[in-house]
Amino acid sequence: MDRSSEIGVVGLAVMGQNLALNFARNGFRVCVYNRTPERTEAFLRDRVRGEPIVPAYTIEEFARCLERPRRILLMVQAGPAVDQVIEALLPHLEPGDLVMDGGNSHYADTERRMQWLADRGIRFLGVGISGGEKGALLGPSIMPGGSPEAYAMVEAMLTRIAAQSEEGPCCAYMGRGGAGHYVKMVHNAIEYAFMQGIAEVYDFMKTALGMPTEAIAETFERWNEGTLNAFLTELAARVLRYRDPETGDPLVERILDKAEQKGTGRWAAQSALELGVPTPTLTVAVLARTLSHFKADRERIGAAFPWPDRRTPSSPEAALSDLEAALNLVVLAAFSQGLWLLHEASRAYRYGTDRAEVLRVWRAGCIIRARWLGFLREVVREDPEDPHLLFSARFRAELQARLSAAGRILREAFEAGVPMPALSTAADYVLSMRRSQLPANLIQAQRDAFGAHTYERLDRPGVFHTEWLD
Ligand SMILES: NC(=O)c1ccc[n+]([C@@H]2O[C@H](COP(=O)([O-])OP(=O)(O)OC[C@H]3O[C@@H](n4cnc5c(N)ncnc54)[C@H](OP(=O)(O)O)[C@@H]3O)[C@@H](O)[C@H]2O)c1
Repeated sequence: MDRSSEIGVVGLAVMGQNLALNFARNGFRVCVYNRTPERTEAFLRDRVRGEPIVPAYTIEEFARCLERPRRILLMVQAGPAVDQVIEALLPHLEPGDLVMDGGNSHYADTERRMQWLADRGIRFLGVGISGGEKGALLGPSIMPGGSPEAYAMVEAMLTRIAAQSEEGPCCAYMGRGGAGHYVKMVHNAIEYAFMQGIAEVYDFMKTALGMPTEAIAETFERWNEGTLNAFLTELAARVLRYRDPETGDPLVERILDKAEQKGTGRWAAQSALELGVPTPTLTVAVLARTLSHFKADRERIGAAFPWPDRRTPSSPEAALSDLEAALNLVVLAAFSQGLWLLHEASRAYRYGTDRAEVLRVWRAGCIIRARWLGFLREVVREDPEDPHLLFSARFRAELQARLSAAGRILREAFEAGVPMPALSTAADYVLSMRRSQLPANLIQAQRDAFGAHTYERLDRPGVFHTEWLD
């Protein structure tokens, strides 16, 4: 088996197993290695059915079984595990070999590892992969970043195993350095916002409109036929339809309302704050998950804080079309904010990311695949240098058509005691970005009054300070 495998996969949890099978199904010879040998054995026993996959039980054996230059994909837990695996691999690698990290690593870690390996003549790519278990097996969306030379070593392989859309394979070079992981991080932040928006309209239908779970599922199914056609819309419907085999009730109604997170949404929010890019809808989706964790506190406060909590007087029919418009607004605002963040990050970190290509790669295979992506790509291509989409007349028209409906939903939600932070921030984002005059003048005046922080004037250039309190 020496030197015969075209690709090596390290880490055989959910993603590694399915990607290894995907490579093999596409005709590539694969060598697999996992720290715990029992997992490798179980994989071969339970899932490998004659595909060209060979196991290695030591790192030495793994390095020996790969063609030179080696191509290795790490699919281990993000964080210190990636460094530990690289450390173990290093003595067995040679200059010219390529290591790819396909996990959800932080883009700054990716840049550090790239430098670390470059010093030893070894190439490194940070590869964002989206699509979960099924995507990994049948065709994920792949976002590789690093040097173009390193990408050229695996382009043919990655584009073969990626999801295929009408616009080509859902894998493209995302730019230099940590660009691949940065793009994946923004993808996840948009995913958080989209899911938060879905959760909010579900809450509105349940609480404000008093709709049963089945009817809510039906509504998502209907919406999935229109502009909201998206993996997450369809998934919401399917999850809502699922009945608990034990109780016969919709399982979703039995699930504890505390949302978990693994870090990519938070990293996106942190990066946006550092770069000075306003991404309120992406950020609030992270905060909403955090807030959900305080269940005991919420119960205690809720018991002592009366609020109408009543159903809205509107008929479901009237409210549902507004609600559909409102969710569309959340989705459009989330993409606009995410693309702005990508623009600024690409400039600040010199990634050279082509956002039209990003949108093309998100067309299929990934969690945020949605009908809107084709339109968004056209908008970005109108002027690729525009930071966000709001400079486009076509994009603004889509927002404008939905803003009043969002406002009506927000008013009713308030009366019904339904919090809608993603929708509120989406609407506020649009309202703020269309205001040439914001009240930041008063903030500047106060800053100058208490801290002599100075201010600029509308009517003449320069920096001014006033003794306000004399
Ligand atoms: N699950 C998804 O849907 C999904 C989607 C996209 C991206 N990702 C990302 O893809 C990566 C893999 O995800 P996953 O869900 O398949 O697996 P995971 O649960 O994140 O990680 C488990 C794998 O990491 C290995 N590992 C952990 N610590 C290690 C160490 N110190 N040294 C060597 N190996 C170590 C484990 O080996 P042992 O068997 O020896 O413990 C196992 O193979 C993660 O970065 C994840 O965030 C996941």
